Amino acid sequence: MTSALYPGSFDPVTLGHLDVIGRAAGIFERLTVGVLVNPRKSPMLSLDERIAALTEAARDELGDVADRIEVASFDGLTVDFAQRIGAGFIVRGLRAVSDFESELQMAHTNRKLAPTVDTIFLMTALEHSYLSSSLVKEIAAFGGDVSQMVPAAAMRRLVP
Ligand code: PNS
Repeated sequence: MTSALYPGSFDPVTLGHLDVIGRAAGIFERLTVGVLVNPRKSPMLSLDERIAALTEAARDELGDVADRIEVASFDGLTVDFAQRIGAGFIVRGLRAVSDFESELQMAHTNRKLAPTVDTIFLMTALEHSYLSSSLVKEIAAFGGDVSQMVPAAAMRRLVP
């Protein structure tokens, strides 16, 4: 079975993330969305909220491929988690050339750490390519409308 890990902070999940999740779940037999527990960052949404938003968004908006998706938290190295769950691939989304440099560095580093785990990139859908979680957080913090940027399951948690 080909399994992949899509790691990230998902604070919050955006429509760009959801697009990558849906497409990756159409490629791999099993996709784990790994939510990083990062003690050095103070997220806007708690770990439980991020996991719930991802789980509900996948179930509500991705149709049949949602059956192949699992959402789990992890701490430590992404490659260690990938190996622990038997994922042979790490999936990352690329929005623009500006993402490429840091993603390339991360992919090479991860491959050095774990040569059997490869990274594949999916180009984020054009209509979502301007989006980032930090932008969404800033807009939401000032009471702006982020309903075109995040799935409803994240929206519910950003705007109580
Ligand atoms: O959502 P993000 O912030 O773009 O995700 C970044 C993430 C979680 C994929 C990256 O920071 C990561 O893999 N962190 C875990 C620690 C690790 O493995 N670091 C080495 C990567 S080269």
